[in-house]
Amino acid sequence: MSRFLLTRTLDENAAESALRADVLAGLTRPDKWLPPKWFYDGRGSELFEDITRLPEYYPTRAEREILLARAGEIAAASGARTLVELGSGSSEKTRHLIEAMPGLELYVPVDVSESALTGAAETLLAEHPRLRVHALIADFTRPLELPDSPGPRLVVFLGGTIGNLLPAERAEFLRAVRAMLSPGDALLLGTDLVKDEATLVAAYDDAAGVTAEFNKNVLSVMNRELDADFHPADFEHVAVWDTEQEWIEMRLRARTELNVKIRALDLVVPFGAGEEIRTEVSAKFRQERVREELAAAGLELTQWWTDAAGRFALSLATAG
Ligand code: AVJ
Repeated sequence: MSRFLLTRTLDENAAESALRADVLAGLTRPDKWLPPKWFYDGRGSELFEDITRLPEYYPTRAEREILLARAGEIAAASGARTLVELGSGSSEKTRHLIEAMPGLELYVPVDVSESALTGAAETLLAEHPRLRVHALIADFTRPLELPDSPGPRLVVFLGGTIGNLLPAERAEFLRAVRAMLSPGDALLLGTDLVKDEATLVAAYDDAAGVTAEFNKNVLSVMNRELDADFHPADFEHVAVWDTEQEWIEMRLRARTELNVKIRALDLVVPFGAGEEIRTEVSAKFRQERVREELAAAGLELTQWWTDAAGRFALSLATAG
């Protein structure tokens, strides 16, 4: 029997119409914005991988440090037979966790990228001869139905990606995760932490300009998918720290007044000189906020681990 299954819950048409709807809604309002999920086509995913290796971008290394140090504790605390990973990407960090889980029978990676899912599964199956993988092509921000899976289950959401959701979206997301859990199951959540502004801004505005290119990639996505005529050079990459909200905002700022045609939407989008599109928020957390947001979704924070420098945290929560 094959140890690999792939289920598609998202068809190409659904993705394309979601992009059209988001672009239409986001670029026709006075405060223009686009959801960050549209960064991640093939090129965008590659650029993100490059970001994780930048000297300024500490979250990936900090989270890996925690996972390496705590994998045994996490495995023991969860006792999981099924590991579900939301937004699994290359599953690179999760590998450390899987190695520490001798009782693990099933890995369920969930991602929008089929190529990332099949690539990661191939490596894991070769390394773990008794592990089954049931990959789901799905958008984790949408309600998700898990395949039949043996409990206890550990659901992991790493990378600080929860910070890319707005507070109301986060609340909804955590409630949906809570609904996936049965008694005895747990959630492992990665969150970047509030720290000094210079460190945060540098992480989102690196000297080599990789993050700028990643940010502008969303323009290329709209050009290709929606037959738009954005010129990436017409826009400047901006990263700012919002002290009130405690989040980093990435924006694209029009260098001059310009009009952009989006032919698939039969739309012309006017920009004033200096006008911005908000393309991402990346919220940074404190322990209290994580605890409260989990509690509001019916989840109890039971363990909190940070890297030695206190930059990033992993939280373990159970259905309380
Ligand atoms: C997807 C949460 C890992 O917000 O830090 C990296 C994406 N954006 N640089 C983040 C991102 C700009 C990233 N995560």
